[in-house]
Amino acid sequence: MLVNAERFLADLHTLRSFGASGVGKGVVRPAYSQPDMAARDWLAQQMLDAGLRVVVDPMGNLFGLAEGPSLLLGSHSDSQPEGGWLDGALGVIAALEVARTCRAAGGPAVSIVSFQDEEGRFGVTTGSAVWSGHLALKEADLLCDHEGISLADARRVVNVTGEVDANQFTGFIEMHIEQGPVLDAANKQIGVVSDIVGIRDVKITFEGQQNHAGTTPMHVRKDAFQAVSAFNHALEQRFSNVVTPSTVWTIGHINLHPNASSIVPGRAVFSMQWRDGDTHRLEQMERIIRTLANEVADDRGMQVTFGPLLGLEPVAMDGKLRAALEGAAEAVTLGNWRVMPSGALHDATNVSRLMPVAMVFVPSINGISHAFEEDTAEVDLVAGLKVLEAAVQSLGS
Ligand code: GLV
Ligand code: MN
Ligand code: MN
Repeated sequence: MLVNAERFLADLHTLRSFGASGVGKGVVRPAYSQPDMAARDWLAQQMLDAGLRVVVDPMGNLFGLAEGPSLLLGSHSDSQPEGGWLDGALGVIAALEVARTCRAAGGPAVSIVSFQDEEGRFGVTTGSAVWSGHLALKEADLLCDHEGISLADARRVVNVTGEVDANQFTGFIEMHIEQGPVLDAANKQIGVVSDIVGIRDVKITFEGQQNHAGTTPMHVRKDAFQAVSAFNHALEQRFSNVVTPSTVWTIGHINLHPNASSIVPGRAVFSMQWRDGDTHRLEQMERIIRTLANEVADDRGMQVTFGPLLGLEPVAMDGKLRAALEGAAEAVTLGNWRVMPSGALHDATNVSRLMPVAMVFVPSINGISHAFEEDTAEVDLVAGLKVLEAAVQSLGS
């Protein structure tokens, strides 16, 4: 059984053409956008051509199903608002190539999936969170994107054809780019994942008093931006004896109202996200965030409110699937691989509620991802594909 590297690379480029940004190899293909839905139609056709049965579930998760018990491979094909061409796409196209090769060669039964909204337009890995039962669809439907559009409205574009029972799958393997600097810096070709970190994500709102930027004396202002600034400044010090060098936190989105040069902003809504491999630390950080935000608001005579807290717990990869990937990595790279944790979130976290999961990484050039510059050397993309193929073979034999 032999995967076709040229066909795999050509398919990756075809998938990039849906929402290609024109800057580098970037893509703009957020969940449920026109390019995302067009890409999913194209993917569905590839699944049919590979002899798989296509099912689209109510979230818009796209499955290509083999008959009988099968291994599930895949990832997601939606992108960040400014995303790279490989994030998610690599795992979906590698899955497609391995599935059709297996089918043509009479190899192990392989099904494939492209989950919807992994990139969190509405939540955190929303499509797989709902499919796995981590998040009820009713609750998910209430979530809104930064423009105030609800998931319930956005997913009206999905042509639902059924539900997919997870019991038919024997395990899930997700191939992905690393999205960080570890493999590139160490000159390693493959990373076999040990664990995926946990995450918390919440929207915080400071409500002050909108007023005139020329006439309102500084000491009477209730400036919502100044509250965010004070909060952010104090946070690092408050975290200092709780976090480790691998803990991360990000304010990545902020909405100032009314966002005008001559108006003291009356309201600021911002995203607060933090990640760590230890659930207890994630909880300690949450307490610090809530306490500090309340203190900042009280000091300034302002109000603070918190949106729903979204999150995923850290998870360890399954020993048997991981061993298959390690054996395959050793054979394909002749020892040029390593074990590593994942600092990025993945659908595999949710799927681990339902079946054994494992992940394999290829390097990201200069460790850049969630940016148009994201890329990986072709030779590494193909090495990753071969590791996936060899692992599937060894599990099926
Ligand atoms: C997934 O894209 C993440 O934010 O880690
Ligand atoms: Mn991804
Ligand atoms: Mn991503």
